[in-house]
Amino acid sequence: MGVYSKPVVFAVLSAIVILVGTVVTVFIPMLMPSTQPVSDYVKPYTAVELEGRDIYIREGCNNCHTQTVRPLRTEVLRYGEYSKPEEFAYDRPFLWGSRRTGPDLNRLGGKYLDSWHYKHMADPQSMFGKSNMPPYGWLAETPLDTRYSLKKIAILKYGYTDGEVIAQIEEYRAKVSSPSYDSKEARDEVTPEKLRNELTEMDAIIAYMQKLGRDVKKLEAEK
Ligand code: HEC
Repeated sequence: MGVYSKPVVFAVLSAIVILVGTVVTVFIPMLMPSTQPVSDYVKPYTAVELEGRDIYIREGCNNCHTQTVRPLRTEVLRYGEYSKPEEFAYDRPFLWGSRRTGPDLNRLGGKYLDSWHYKHMADPQSMFGKSNMPPYGWLAETPLDTRYSLKKIAILKYGYTDGEVIAQIEEYRAKVSSPSYDSKEARDEVTPEKLRNELTEMDAIIAYMQKLGRDVKKLEAEK
């Protein structure tokens, strides 16, 4: 007898128990600060890196590339230190992905020079004959649209002042268009002459790729 012979009461009681269980194990942790760690060593994206990230999303790079190194021996040996939750504090949305047609990119920053990226983006098959990555040379022929950079940074609350955002864009433009830029030759090869003194979408996406995992690599190097 008891509750077992009363199906409706039993169903209601089970629903309550499951609901309480769900709230305790799912929703409460979601609001706890310890599940959303922020660390000083992970810095927000600069305006140019953020624009590059938006192009990465627009082009669907994440359909072929993941951005998370799992804590498995084989992954750590191949890509480097496994991904930590705090690395994604400034990623909205995060781009972990679920499919690896190409390699994971979460530890890409600093792996290659910018010049490598200019060549690879324009013609992946020139670096890896069997690559099925499409070429993105036209990104170098498209000026970077920074009209919304201030707004984006403000909405994402990265904490930069308007002056800092404008300086970041100008600083990066000055860097890549300078005659002493270490990847000048490769950049000039893919960038039409009239855009060489401006920022292109290619410049921004490369700035973004060089940022991936860089903060963690720096931390690992200091250990
Ligand atoms: C159709 C799938 C596909 C798409 C889409 C794609 N890639 Fe790739 N990517 C690959 C493959 C396969 C490789 C490995 C061979 C190579 O390096 O070309 C690769 C390699 C790379 C590498 C070199 C990684 C390393 O550690 O050596 C980078 C960087 C990269 N892709 C960036 C991008 C970016 C940025 C985009 C979007 C603009 C993109 N990929 C879109 C398939 C893809």
